[in-house]
Amino acid sequence: MATSPAANGSFDVARFRAFFPSLADAEWAFFDGPGGTQTPTPVGDAIAQALTLPLSNRGATSVGARNADRIVLECRSAVGDLLGIEPDLAIHGRSATALNYHLAHAISADWTPGDEVVVTRLDHDSNVRPWIEVARRTGAVVRWVDFDPETGELTADAVSEVLSERTRIVALTAASNLIGTIPDVAAIAEVVHRVGGLVYVDGVHYAAHHPVDMATLGADFFVFSPYKLLGPHCAFATGRRDLLDNLRPEKLDPSSNALPERFELGTLPYEQMAGVTAAIDFVAAVAPQRDRRSALVAAMSTIDQHEGRLLRRIEQGVGELPGVTMYSRALERTPTVLFTIDGMSAATIAGRLGELKIAVGAGAFYCDEGARHLGLSTEGAVRVGVAPYNDDEDVDRLLDALVKVTRR
Ligand SMILES: Cc1ncc(COP(=O)(O)O)c(C=O)c1O
Repeated sequence: MATSPAANGSFDVARFRAFFPSLADAEWAFFDGPGGTQTPTPVGDAIAQALTLPLSNRGATSVGARNADRIVLECRSAVGDLLGIEPDLAIHGRSATALNYHLAHAISADWTPGDEVVVTRLDHDSNVRPWIEVARRTGAVVRWVDFDPETGELTADAVSEVLSERTRIVALTAASNLIGTIPDVAAIAEVVHRVGGLVYVDGVHYAAHHPVDMATLGADFFVFSPYKLLGPHCAFATGRRDLLDNLRPEKLDPSSNALPERFELGTLPYEQMAGVTAAIDFVAAVAPQRDRRSALVAAMSTIDQHEGRLLRRIEQGVGELPGVTMYSRALERTPTVLFTIDGMSAATIAGRLGELKIAVGAGAFYCDEGARHLGLSTEGAVRVGVAPYNDDEDVDRLLDALVKVTRR
């Protein structure tokens, strides 16, 4: 078997799929990637190998300590290449949600009553609730920004309307995990920075589909979760060095005050970090270049083209179903389709597809405010997400099954 998914120019999805044990018998077609992707063998191997190496707490005086240290530094370097940041700005956390809470506490430490925080109805609750809770604690005012339910767009103009000289932070998604919308984060960051505010960007759904460059994105803080991109279940946050340098998160006294350790509570999960490095290397190997950063940028755009082609097929097929309403309509969007069928609950559709071994999501996906804003009932809608390993056969199966399941 090949040892790398490299695809000589174009994306060889069959070769890529061969690395995934869960795809080996093609029993299931997985369109539930927005909830977490399947994992290739090199990632599982890296985790097992790291955990069974001589391993102890990080240090320099024993083989176990040196292994732990190397694994941590390699992981930060890989995450640095993925996000276009320096390795010591890659903060490991248990999940994006945990990091958002932790950073929201640290960021809001100097807020005073009357300060303002902006949250959006396009965001996962993970980038909403922590801000509402720190606002309650500090007496800050919460301002909401809506997306247009007809177009799915969230614009810089809509954000401008709620900004003031008291705006401390705008919490904004780089891509909606509900309807795929990719707002113009750079344009929004520009208007927020003009009033002296900061932008905290949820990149969990975005980074699974697009190369990230913190500098051009205009984000002051950014968070992403590797389990949405073939990696293990954890997350990383980053931020501008000058801002992170000035934050004083709650931490143990003897633990390091350096970046990023200041934000990383307790012993790091070395085996998981080895898995993150392996996942990033696996993605980079799709488009080998002279360095890993260039390879990742090339690989993510190769994957984007592959996913975009499958997305167009899915959208066309779903659009032809009787009684369908599609909600994922923004001009710039990830390969994520959200729809309902008249007279049939989302859970029923997902359940029947599941019987045919096709995995999709049903519900509001922790974006309840957004789902309400779209006019959806509490049952939510069906979500079909494309991941790098999906192929035309998966799409054929999905569309055939949808015709069967929705036939009256
Ligand atoms: C856009 C988005 N943000 C945040 C989260 C939460 O991520 P985590 O599970 O790492 O807390 C998710 C999870 O689905 C997500 O899709």
